[in-house]
Amino acid sequence: MDSSKPAKAVKDVVEAAAEKVAGVLTPDVPGAPGSAPPTVEEPTTPHDPLPPKAEQGAPETRTPTGAKTDAPAIAKGQQGAFLTTSQGARLRDTDHSLKAGPRGPILLQDHHFREKITHFDHERIPERVVHARGAGAHGLFTAYGTAEKVTRAGFLKKGRETEVFVRFSTVLGSRGSADTVRDTRGFATKFYTDEGTFDLVANNMPVFFIQDAIKFPDIIHAAKPHPDREIPQAQSAHDTFWDFVSLHTEAQHHTMWNMSDRGIPRSYRTMEGFGVHTFRLVNAADETVLVKFHWKPKLGVHSLTWEEAQMLGGIDPDFHRRDLYDAIEAGAYPEWELGIQVFPDTPEESFAGIDLLDPTKIVPEELAPVQPIGRLTLNRTPRNFFAETEQVAFHLGHLPPGIDVTNDPLLQGRLFSYVDTQLTRLGGPNFSQIPINRPHAPVNDMLRDGFHQHAVHAGVAPYRPNSLDGGNPFPAGDDENAFVDVPVTVAEAPKVRANPVSFDDHYSQVRLFWLSMSPVEKEHIIRAYTFELGKCYHQAIKERQLQSLANIDPVLCAEVATGLGLPAPQPTVPLAEVTPSPALSQVGREWPSDGRMVGIVVDPDADLDGVGEVRRAVFAAGMVPLLIAPHGGLVGDLPVQRTFATGRSVEFDVLLLAAAPTPTPDAIPARDAKVGAADSAAVDPRVLLMVEECWRHAKAIGAWGGGVTVLERAGVAGTPGVVTGDSGAEVFTAVQQLLAAHRVWERFPASVA
Ligand code: HEM
Repeated sequence: MDSSKPAKAVKDVVEAAAEKVAGVLTPDVPGAPGSAPPTVEEPTTPHDPLPPKAEQGAPETRTPTGAKTDAPAIAKGQQGAFLTTSQGARLRDTDHSLKAGPRGPILLQDHHFREKITHFDHERIPERVVHARGAGAHGLFTAYGTAEKVTRAGFLKKGRETEVFVRFSTVLGSRGSADTVRDTRGFATKFYTDEGTFDLVANNMPVFFIQDAIKFPDIIHAAKPHPDREIPQAQSAHDTFWDFVSLHTEAQHHTMWNMSDRGIPRSYRTMEGFGVHTFRLVNAADETVLVKFHWKPKLGVHSLTWEEAQMLGGIDPDFHRRDLYDAIEAGAYPEWELGIQVFPDTPEESFAGIDLLDPTKIVPEELAPVQPIGRLTLNRTPRNFFAETEQVAFHLGHLPPGIDVTNDPLLQGRLFSYVDTQLTRLGGPNFSQIPINRPHAPVNDMLRDGFHQHAVHAGVAPYRPNSLDGGNPFPAGDDENAFVDVPVTVAEAPKVRANPVSFDDHYSQVRLFWLSMSPVEKEHIIRAYTFELGKCYHQAIKERQLQSLANIDPVLCAEVATGLGLPAPQPTVPLAEVTPSPALSQVGREWPSDGRMVGIVVDPDADLDGVGEVRRAVFAAGMVPLLIAPHGGLVGDLPVQRTFATGRSVEFDVLLLAAAPTPTPDAIPARDAKVGAADSAAVDPRVLLMVEECWRHAKAIGAWGGGVTVLERAGVAGTPGVVTGDSGAEVFTAVQQLLAAHRVWERFPASVA
């Protein structure tokens, strides 16, 4: 397209408009400030034709790479054989600065040096103050239409497809910290709806540490590394965290979720997501309901074991982001259903006695079922981590018509905080123009100028009211699909710094969560509290937290107290009478195992035909087979992915053994400490270690042929979840059934009921 055309078209319209008002203004007279002659009265409604507005692209409509914007997509990337400056001048030399002689000082004149170094100096932007470490992916949201009755939001109408970008994150760690730390995970979704962007900024836990946003700096200062030595990184096992949560007991519910297996997810793909707050939906008839948003993963909710999480922190700190990207690239697209719990919008804003404005409380699914309203599929990884995952900016105030906020005091504070922080993190007020943040809906605002302004705005009247731009832009009327601020009645009341009385209950739902856990999950929670408190220096903090545990459950308190070597205190509040919510437990059901990793130990003596058959079956089941062999390259004609030196049990969800490999030449402690104390083992010690670790981590193990000997050597033959068979195919089928339940917890009988 000829780039002069839009400008010409505008000129034509302006001239036509001007000619109509003969003798007042003509384009021949320079300096006419408006796009059309103003009227004396303020224009209050749009009229035909609307005054022209130039499109707001760059004057010469070029991409950031200098190509024309209407060039074919392939021509828009950086291209050409030659290195250039950012202005497109070809460079002869980028390896030597311009100096006053070979040994002389660098000249200020060296503009290429200055451009290169200045740009480098500014390559980093400040990391997010929380949720610094994250991984993102693009996808598609398809609405079921089941929410049409309760909201007018267009993207929730039946069959509507909306592009999305999701960013998963940890809260506490720095950008370079490990993925598998014990922490809450962020699950933020940007829906690019055609009525404006909707950001659902969620977590993988349905409650929060605090009830009022004014406490956010306190909890984060307490949970981040100590300010003097800046340790420990990305974890809550330290004095300041436990000091705060034991004093500020409304944090106890979220803390229990962190100490549960939810704090160490197996994968982003196996996490639930929760909007936490109660939102208000409004439909076409202006009727409202209150809702809580839930993401339900297709693969079920699964976790790592604590030892796996710790090992992975060193062996593969990128475990979660690798898993996400690998799954998408392999076509095992992660999926979630979006669901809502729906409550009547009553003046009390409560349901079944639960205050819906208290973000430390859930509504059990048994009382208000989660109703599915759409499906999310992540199907594309970012092309550039920085441009997309780092620069994406979420905000709770990004709401389309049909979704509104409530007075939850945590939510209200968040409405301020996100934009405020993004002003500095993204260098000014124009971050909504960064490619990943651009809405997929028409924008016609009156925001102008500022750092990093990309738009070249036309017109002289970015203010209201105006007459110079024909009054444009106009507020949308009642039937013109504007955002609805629901006119909620705010009771006349004194201005106070106070919570509702209902916010004072800090223990009943923590007890509900504890009593909803299966015995093995309770064991994990006991161990987590004991580990974390055991890492604290100060006795007073441990004693104070034990008091909270006593108020939650005497068994939990006694078990943790025993581990700490302290007496278990008596409760100071009556133990709440609660009905457990089985939906909170992660175990006891079966789930698909798409994208799981199957380690297969082989050596040249193994049944390689059988191994080939298993590999094909693993791929066919949507999982990934990784061959582990004495050396790299090929075994037979099968490609090897891991060797005994490079592989480690924590990478695999199940382990299959097709051979009993004898120790390889590098199986000596001086070369590989995993070998352990040298002995004359018949089986390579690294293979035995893999079996032992997989067994400890409650993973399914299968063997056939020579592999059966390894099970016997490792002392695990015949134990729960360890299967043998005559062929690889038979063993794989049995192991697949075990994997559906995620772990073989029967291996470890629990000591608590
Ligand atoms: C229900 C409670 C909360 C949830 C579910 C939540 C969730 C999240 C998530 C998922 C992110 C990461 C967004 C991303 O991937 O870029 C985030 C970032 C952030 N949150 Fe929250 N948060 C909560 C409470 C709060 C509160 C109370 C405040 C402050 C008053 C706050 C301030 C921030 C800030 C400043 C960021 C960094 C944003 C950025 O730099 O772009 N959050 N939060």
